[in-house]
Amino acid sequence: MGKSVTSSLLLFLIIGIVVLMIARFISMPSIVNSNYQSSNTIQDSSWNGPSLYIEAQPTGEERQLIIYGEELIAHTSRYFGPRGSIAHLTNGMNCQNCHLDAGKKAWSNNYGAVYSTYPKFRDRSGRVESIYKRVSDCMERSLNGWALDSNSKEFKAIYTYIKWLGKDVKKGVKPIGSGIEKLPFLDRAANAENGRAIYISKCQSCHGKNGEGQLASDSIEYIYPPLWGAKSFNNGAGLFRISSFAGYIKNCMPFQLASHNAPSLTNEESWDVAAFVISQPRPELDQRHDWPDISKKPVDFPFGPFIDGFSENQHKYGPFKPIVEKRKDLSVTKSFK
Ligand code: HEC
Ligand code: HEC
Repeated sequence: MGKSVTSSLLLFLIIGIVVLMIARFISMPSIVNSNYQSSNTIQDSSWNGPSLYIEAQPTGEERQLIIYGEELIAHTSRYFGPRGSIAHLTNGMNCQNCHLDAGKKAWSNNYGAVYSTYPKFRDRSGRVESIYKRVSDCMERSLNGWALDSNSKEFKAIYTYIKWLGKDVKKGVKPIGSGIEKLPFLDRAANAENGRAIYISKCQSCHGKNGEGQLASDSIEYIYPPLWGAKSFNNGAGLFRISSFAGYIKNCMPFQLASHNAPSLTNEESWDVAAFVISQPRPELDQRHDWPDISKKPVDFPFGPFIDGFSENQHKYGPFKPIVEKRKDLSVTKSFK
């Protein structure tokens, strides 16, 4: 009797194990599906935007606005470019040219921190800025054009989209990988001549010999956006500051061949090619009213007057470490007074 009990227990155990293995095997696809995003992308703790393909909420008018907002970010020029269907407000670039994947992609100047941190005080304007003001800034500077009407359906759509993107980010939090990464400063000035060689070998095939980019065959929007010249962002745009340009291209360019985890350029190459591009001609913006408190000018804002006595040229290309040191001294001296 003892023997048959033992063997039937053993049989049960074996059947049990087999059943469990089969169950696990069958349920595997659903495990994979429910984690669709996380199992297919390399996971780190950086923020990526939500997806309407996965999320059923919200519905109705709000969903339509989100979809329209994303479309406006991705294809701005179709609506507001020189051949835009609604108005002619911009230079023909799309928001998405600099905010990849309509502002949803990690380490690609995304909008993950916008809804959570605005309205906020910004030193450039010296006042508290709303999301409307920040969007208008990029219209006037990065797209070298005019702001949208704040009451328009189009601004409402962009706002609703940005709010939806940031819905899972806690108030005040700036998620990892949002905005543009700050690369460490070089010990030397960035070198535009080195940058020219890098530009020719790694950028020119898409952005063109004269940085002019390439329009699509319908001439409505760019396949490859311009990097300098009359159709590019003006010298008041964020990307005109070398640290922003270098940080952006390190993680994002050459397009689809570089990422945060697998950049194509080294830090030095990023600074040098940035120096080359910002040394080229582009539209100019009257910035006399920016940075009303000049002590708040970023070290790489290249237009004086400055509190630190360094030249505009050094503020444009570096070396930046001496400027940082000098400013530290100045603020110490000040606080002793
Ligand atoms: C030429 C490049 C470029 C284009 C085109 C562009 N932007 Fe920007 N945008 C920037 C840069 C650079 C910043 C500053 C990022 C930083 O400092 O981290 C920025 C910042 C922003 C921010 C604030 C982000 C934050 O986290 O604080 C918003 C919102 C924004 N842009 C919206 C837009 C919209 C909407 C458009 C299209 C109408 C647009 N941008 C087009 C380059 C661009
Ligand atoms: C394979 C083609 C390709 C190459 C090579 C490439 N880019 Fe781009 N670049 C693009 C595209 C496409 C976009 C716009 C992305 C979008 O709209 O989704 C872009 C956008 C940009 C932008 C922001 C928009 C603008 O016009 O200012 C900058 C800056 C930029 N590239 C710089 C560079 C630099 C510097 C290099 C070389 C290191 C480079 N790119 C190499 C295709 C390329």
